[in-house]
Amino acid sequence: MFKPKTIMEPFRVKVVEPLPMRTRQERAVALQEAKLNLFSVHADQVTIDLMTDSGTSAMSQEQWAGIMRGDESYAGGRSFFRFADTVKQLTGMEHIIPVHQGRAAERILFTTVGGKGKTIPANTHFDTTRANAEASGAEALDLVIEEGKDPSAEHPFKGNINVLALTKVLEERAGSVPLVVMTITNNSGGGQPVSLENMKQVRAVCDRFQVPLFLDCARFAENSWFIKLREEGQQQRTPRAIAEEMFRLADGAWMSSKKDAFGNIGGFLALKDDALAIECRNLLILTEGFPTYGGLAGRDLEALAIGLEEVLAEDYLEYRIRSTEYVWRHMDQAGVPLLRPAGGHAVYLDARKFLPHVPSGLLPGQSISAALFLEGGVRACEIGTVMFGHTLPDGTQAPGPMDLVRLAIPRRVYTQSHMDYVIEAVTYVFERRAQLGGLKIIEEPSALRHFTCGFEPIGWDPYAP
Ligand code: F0G
Repeated sequence: MFKPKTIMEPFRVKVVEPLPMRTRQERAVALQEAKLNLFSVHADQVTIDLMTDSGTSAMSQEQWAGIMRGDESYAGGRSFFRFADTVKQLTGMEHIIPVHQGRAAERILFTTVGGKGKTIPANTHFDTTRANAEASGAEALDLVIEEGKDPSAEHPFKGNINVLALTKVLEERAGSVPLVVMTITNNSGGGQPVSLENMKQVRAVCDRFQVPLFLDCARFAENSWFIKLREEGQQQRTPRAIAEEMFRLADGAWMSSKKDAFGNIGGFLALKDDALAIECRNLLILTEGFPTYGGLAGRDLEALAIGLEEVLAEDYLEYRIRSTEYVWRHMDQAGVPLLRPAGGHAVYLDARKFLPHVPSGLLPGQSISAALFLEGGVRACEIGTVMFGHTLPDGTQAPGPMDLVRLAIPRRVYTQSHMDYVIEAVTYVFERRAQLGGLKIIEEPSALRHFTCGFEPIGWDPYAP
């Protein structure tokens, strides 16, 4: 039987969007104007945009057709019921609350259950999750397994939570823990999956202390596929069956549907608890909108409902995970230090190994991101000291847990030759790594500083040819 080695996109192109093709000189000007912060660079200067896989998916013809069918009624729209039914079937949860994106769900949930004196443990909180927990006054605790903190450690489920550490936290302060969060896949920890086994253990611990378990499920389909590939006894199951089981272990979930629902915008909060749902809906009305649209247009809900079905197709998930692994493998073969193994939605460069001569305090991940943009027009995202560290009173930097550069791959957007170009660009910068130096932060806001802070080079000229 013909068994092709080629990883073929299981779709063909119907509409094309030209890529901005810019010169190094044009990018140097853009980078300087942006004070070396890629969030401040205009997208029309970026040739391949791997800043995020969020909201950047290509929608299918069915989704675009759904956009036309969207029901824009203020209350009780048809598109809401299609969306709510889809999410109910997937999660088994009764209360489906649409929101404009993931962090709106986080804000509503943590405003309701968080607050001063509360502790919210997770495998690893994503940046907005941590920020929303902390903004409520609560403490956000990361309890990922040891392997999950070491970029070079090999483990099939590096997103797993350390069950012993979680048990200890609950023994000491169960009364002040409103919920436990499992981020699937674990974005800040390298897009690594959580096993079903680990989720079951966490469920048992949560039951013992009567604490609810919540999934931050932005990439639930990718997590399901990893379980099918890697977890004993799961090979014969469909990703949908695995996903349904994961959700049924939880008491609630929120999703940024800008990821595994192929949405350009959208999200939801799904709850079992009636009283909590009433409280959350009241807050929703205050800031997001009426509970049958939650800050979205009816057409968005329609497109998301379709995307949530499409994302569980086996041919799509196989292509998705294999094509990320393809990029990872070629960079690995070129000697580029990477977080191992490949993640689902992204390849993460290990900036501490990539630039061993630049200490964490001098923000090696940000230097690499700047160089990738300057040389190749490739936009990546630092997930390290800029994102998760902070400035100490003496002006130096407390480092983040790891210094990573994430090359996130938008869904169904770039082809293999685009990714071959990215591999070349990363390899080029890696070969010239000795010429890269560090950066310092010259201005920063009080929270989520990575979005808006400015940088200055320390003792090197990033723009030198
Ligand atoms: N949780 C996870 C695991 C995420 O990755 C994100 C967003 C959110 C919550 C927040 O959702 O953006 O819709 O408000 N991650 C994006 C990223 C921004 O680039 O990884 P949102």
